[in-house]
Amino acid sequence: MNIILLGFMGAGKTAVGRKLSLRLGYRFLDTDHLIEEEQQKQIKEIFAESGEAHFRSLETECIKGLQGVQNTVISTGGGIITTEGNLGILKGIGTTIFLRADFEVIKDRVFRNDKRPLLQTENPLETMKALYEKRLPLYEQADLIIDTGHQKVQQVISKIIRAL
Ligand code: S3P
Repeated sequence: MNIILLGFMGAGKTAVGRKLSLRLGYRFLDTDHLIEEEQQKQIKEIFAESGEAHFRSLETECIKGLQGVQNTVISTGGGIITTEGNLGILKGIGTTIFLRADFEVIKDRVFRNDKRPLLQTENPLETMKALYEKRLPLYEQADLIIDTGHQKVQQVISKIIRAL
């Protein structure tokens, strides 16, 4: 079985994914890290040098390359569901789980980190809110929805395990 974590930037996909994989004895993969390793560049450099559309095509290539993995938890970049066809590919790989968190909760986490290239705009908060609202219905197509709120990583993991 494979588990695929979806959700907005700051939803905790990487932290939850890593610990969930340890708890299940699964391998852990993160699409952003796989792309960075393969390209030998940071995500923000890929955006700056080649633009978002190029990054999105790398993301699709990356998940196509994951078809066939076993017993793996895969954490994904927040925008992966915006490319048509990606959700179908991910559902073919494993159980997709949307880690849902309120905007107010993730806002503070996201702004503690300056690496998010999509938020380098004049009004990052407005940009983030617009992206969040546009993406919500896409994330909601996941197989399972887990509310994370202010919960600790271990609590989120227990919820996921109960829901599987
Ligand atoms: C993105 C989220 C990032 C990363 C890239 C684009 C997005 O991943 O893939 O900066 O479009 O929301 P995280 O969700 O891990 O921050």
